[in-house]
Formats: sequence, structure tokens, C-alpha cells
Amino acid sequence: MTLSFPRPPIDSERSEALRIAFAERFGPGAPRAHFAPGRANLMGAHLDYNGGPVMPMAVDRGTWVAVRRRTDRRVRMASTVEEGEVEWSLDALPDAPSGRWFDYPLGVLRAVLTRPGELPGLDVLFGGDLPIGAGLSSSASICVGTAHALTAAAGGELEPDEGVELALAAERGFVGVQCGIMDPYAVAHSRPGHLLWLDCKDRSVDHVPLDATQVTVAVADSLVRRELAQGAFNERVAQCAEAFELLRLHVPAATCLRDVPLGVVRAHLSELEPAVGRRALHVAGEVARTFEARDALVRGDVAAFGSAMLASHESLREQYEVSTDELDCLVDAAASVDGVLGSRLTGAGFGGCTVVLLRAGAEDDLRAALEQRYAARFGRTPTVAFYRGDPGPRELD
Ligand code: GLA
Repeated sequence: MTLSFPRPPIDSERSEALRIAFAERFGPGAPRAHFAPGRANLMGAHLDYNGGPVMPMAVDRGTWVAVRRRTDRRVRMASTVEEGEVEWSLDALPDAPSGRWFDYPLGVLRAVLTRPGELPGLDVLFGGDLPIGAGLSSSASICVGTAHALTAAAGGELEPDEGVELALAAERGFVGVQCGIMDPYAVAHSRPGHLLWLDCKDRSVDHVPLDATQVTVAVADSLVRRELAQGAFNERVAQCAEAFELLRLHVPAATCLRDVPLGVVRAHLSELEPAVGRRALHVAGEVARTFEARDALVRGDVAAFGSAMLASHESLREQYEVSTDELDCLVDAAASVDGVLGSRLTGAGFGGCTVVLLRAGAEDDLRAALEQRYAARFGRTPTVAFYRGDPGPRELD
């Protein structure tokens, strides 16, 4: 059973659909149902692992988790969107990932078990309405959603920072992905009607209003999924580390690449490998743009914020080299539409989605332009969705 809706479902619809699917899978007996959003990142691309600022927004689509306590110590997990059911004893959980979807919730389960509180055996069903592997952080969504659901099953309540730590423990410590901190923060700390401002150097958090009556956030899915994206992502992380090792000699107080100003990168470009130099140019430029974009949004200048998004995409294409022809086509098509303020790839790149900021009322024109221009060039229709913000991880009534 797919849990799909033509519009974002309200919580009671999510809960109802999930309970029906749960009963079909595990039999009668009511579970507790939970939800955690995904996220789109509007500014601050590839800055989280460089200690820079990021401006993501949790979106009103994500992961649904239904949990029912058992009287024994067995754990069963199943998904409405993936094949197969897994079952383990709480006393003999796998200690290595298998490469399957349940590695993420299993990593969270293992992390939750190291904390105070008694966890009994559980039946767990996952569902969702977020494209997977598309740059909308489906992995942080399932990790924070699982953390929320399991903590509730153990009789506790999850603080946002605990959700972040459990998600990072699962992704980095168990699944083995060296992801940055942006995604679990965006999911766990969301506030509707706002973008999150996260300074990844000191982990300080703020919320910047984005007036949903004036502007809309759209996400266009290129439907391209890159198998080798993880390797290319890790390569970018390593190149940034290499750039920092050389450039820190010229900025003695710097503790991360974010602290190296654009002027210093430019002055010492010849000391870096050409590709490493381009990565550093992106990071330094993006840090400056992201601060300017925040200032623009605070004074209500959404047009300036949109321009920063377009400049960000150009830098991701030219300097960071993580865009694709498909993503460039979607950004160019969006930029040609009256009422569109800005657009850029979101997530790591190499495929996946673009995010668009547009004036309310321009939605139909945007959809038509993206579908027409993309189909004319690539022979298939991208998915265009309009997302609202989300209040964050919660139990559904
Ligand atoms: C991926 C990572 C994030 C971040 C983005 C790029 O989505 O999971 O931590 O680095 O790429 O901004």
C-alpha cells in the first residue's frame, strides 16, 4: 500500500492511513503514530561540514512511523514503500549495516538502547510521502522520526537536540555516512513559517520568518538518482579539508574553512590544486552570500534573497561542480518565469531536486514552464511540488 496524497495530508489522514497499513501488516491492536518532516535547503550549500551557516526549511512531507509495544523482546520492522520485513531480538541486534533501508532505523534503535529507559520489544511500520534519495533528507527524516517514536515507546520525550544526536549516531556511527549536521537540525528544530538559521561552527540556532502568504517554496525533482553520489560527496569533503590545511597558514585564528575570507582564497589560489581552489572559492563565496541572504530576509527583501539563491546555483555549477544538465535546465527554466525570485539545486547535487522561491500566485506558470522546458530537452516530466513549512517531529493523534 502506498501512502500517497495529491496534496500534503493533514495529520489525521496520515494517522488513519498508517493505522490501516499497520493492522494489515501486524494485525489488530492500535499503534502510536509519529511523523518527522524532510527538508529543503534554501541557502548555505555544502557549508555544514565547513563550519558555515545554512538556511534550510522543514517541509510538510516526510516519514511516518507507527510503533506498538510487544510483551517479548522481539523487534519487527516493515515499510509501506520497501520490500520485506525484518525481525531481531533486542539482545542480538546486527552490529553492522546491511546496505538495506532499515539500517537507518536500526542504527537509531541501537543508539536509543544505550540511553536510560527501558525499551520493550516493538512492531514498527514506516511509511512516507517524501521522495527518497532526492536531496530532501529522507535519511534524517527517518532517523529523527524513529528517534521520536522509540523514545515515546520507552515512556520518554525527545528534545530536538537529542533527536539530532541520535540521528547522527545512526548515520555516522552505524550506517557509516559522513554526513554534515544540517539535515537532522533542519528536521528536529523546525518552526513553520520560518527558515532555520543554523551556524554550523557553534551550532547556534535561530528562526528567520518567511511569509507564506507572499512567497511559496517549490521543489522540482529531476528524477535523476546518482548511484555514485556518495563517493563524489566524500571527495568534496576531502578537498575542503585539503584547502583548509593550506589556507589556515594565512588565517592563524581560523578553525574551519568558513573562517577563510574570499580575499584570502583569491590571493593564495595558485598554492592550491585547481579543483581544490574552486571548492574553496565556492565555500568562501557561499558563506558571504548566506549572511547577505539572511540580512535580506530579515528586512523583508525576498527578491535579494532569491538573487542569492541564483548566485549560489551558479557557484555550485562552476566552482563546486555538483550540478547536472538536468538541474541546470530546471533552474534556468524557473528563472525565466515572472514571479520567480530564485532557484538552485538543493541537497548534495549530482541529481535530485531544485528548490524555487516564487511569489504566491506564480505557481501554475512555474509548473508549466518547468514541465515544458524539461520535457522538451530530456523527454520526461519532472515532479513539481509546492511545500509548506512544518512544525517538526510529533506524535499524530
Ligand atoms: C547533503 C548532506 C548535508 C549537506 C548537503 C549539502 O545533503 O547530507 O549534510 O552537506 O549535502 O549542503
